[in-house]
Amino acid sequence: MADRYLHFTGTAPGRFLTRRLGLPQPAPLRRWSPGTPTLDGPLLHLTAGDSTVTEELSALLAATGLDVTERVERIERAERPAGIVLDATAVVTPGGLAGVHAALHPVVRSLAPGGRVVVLGVRPSADDHHQAAAQQALEGFVRSLGKEIGRGATVQLLRIDPEGVAGAESTLRFLLSPRSAYISGQVIELTAAAPAPVADWAAPLAGRTALVTGAARGIGASVASVLARDGARVICLDVPQTGDELARTADALGATALPLDITADDAAQRIAAAVPDGLDVLVHNAGITRDRRLANMPADRWASVLDVNLDSVLRTTDALLAAGTVHRGGRIVATASIAGIAGNNGQTNYAASKAGIIGLVRALAPRAAADHGVTVNAVAPGFIETKMTAAVPLLIREAGRRMNSLGQGGLPVDVAETTAWFAQPASTAVNGQVVRVCGQSLLGA
Ligand SMILES: NC(=O)c1ccc[n+]([C@@H]2O[C@H](COP(=O)([O-])OP(=O)(O)OC[C@H]3O[C@@H](n4cnc5c(N)ncnc54)[C@H](O)[C@@H]3O)[C@@H](O)[C@H]2O)c1
Repeated sequence: MADRYLHFTGTAPGRFLTRRLGLPQPAPLRRWSPGTPTLDGPLLHLTAGDSTVTEELSALLAATGLDVTERVERIERAERPAGIVLDATAVVTPGGLAGVHAALHPVVRSLAPGGRVVVLGVRPSADDHHQAAAQQALEGFVRSLGKEIGRGATVQLLRIDPEGVAGAESTLRFLLSPRSAYISGQVIELTAAAPAPVADWAAPLAGRTALVTGAARGIGASVASVLARDGARVICLDVPQTGDELARTADALGATALPLDITADDAAQRIAAAVPDGLDVLVHNAGITRDRRLANMPADRWASVLDVNLDSVLRTTDALLAAGTVHRGGRIVATASIAGIAGNNGQTNYAASKAGIIGLVRALAPRAAADHGVTVNAVAPGFIETKMTAAVPLLIREAGRRMNSLGQGGLPVDVAETTAWFAQPASTAVNGQVVRVCGQSLLGA
């Protein structure tokens, strides 16, 4: 179901009317497409306090090929920045936060539509409560700026490890590009792990094998398509009943179709048999809903949702890691949901399964990295325009679309781009993260 309101507010009479009536005016979001610039203008690199990583960060930003400037005068001479990176890693006292205000206050209004703001911080200290107060303050700051900035711009807090700035490159490239169009108000924390070298940023998954579950349609089909675009050999798994749809999706991508119910007892063995040379990227996307309020929910609706969305993810992950099917340097990406964070009326089963995914990711990530050299992360989609959400009653659907900072639903490609960023060899430092792809939804903020 197309978002007619978004289309209407993009027309001149629509803009006029919605402004007069004080209705939301969502800005059309620019997604990545070949040949278009990553940022439509310069990237402003600012610093609050005496950062120890300035030089390393400057070199990293220069390597991205973006038009980086540290000179605010350039902005005052009417060249609007399309991105701002504010290095706030040196803010260790609440007094130091004045430097954040001083850096951004003069330039935030001039940010181009669809601009990107990334504030760099560090993990709040467990021993120094002044540092912890200052660094945690950045979270409230970023989430508030995300809500007020408007015009399709996004704001994130990226906590880096000062010993591992190089590990931030894939994440900065992602956050400063149209690939992260539907992500805002997020806090992402990187480890110190060194990234694998990148031969070609345009095809980061070249030579890699990826398997996507639930790939016949919707978000899974888009994930398969984006991973293939990035160079991966893709296996599309879905239930045998999806027959033609699965075959068509796989054929269009030059991918292999694997008709298989992920809840089958031998699912992991059949996956391993389908990839005799092993796997680099395992995307657990298959998911179902069987909504009812708890008082009306029969045990079978409860069990099927838990089985598809959570138990099968645990079983196949454990078996494929234990068998060594997922290579060192591999990536596991699971699918949570904002329902798993905020809860949702009629979705005790679904929200429990998706919250379970978050628990799985956080607990397994450090161990999988230590024991297998594999990262484990999750996407948590908000309202994404798919068949699943087209079936939602009109008023609830409209609320889902508008109740976020970007005032619209996301597209399957937004989840797919996030998955592709997790999947990159250069994303070794991204581990144990649950990144919401929800336009900064008000739910479970
Ligand atoms: N669409 C949204 O707004 C939204 C929001 C939050 C989370 N999600 C999650 O994103 C994922 C994809 O959602 P979607 O909207 O594309 O849904 P969808 O229903 O369009 O696609 C899900 C796919 O998973 C497959 N599948 C279901 N059970 C399976 C099984 N046992 N084995 C193998 N494949 C199975 C289905 O056949 C289908 O092709 C799901 O995990 C969903 O919970 C979606």
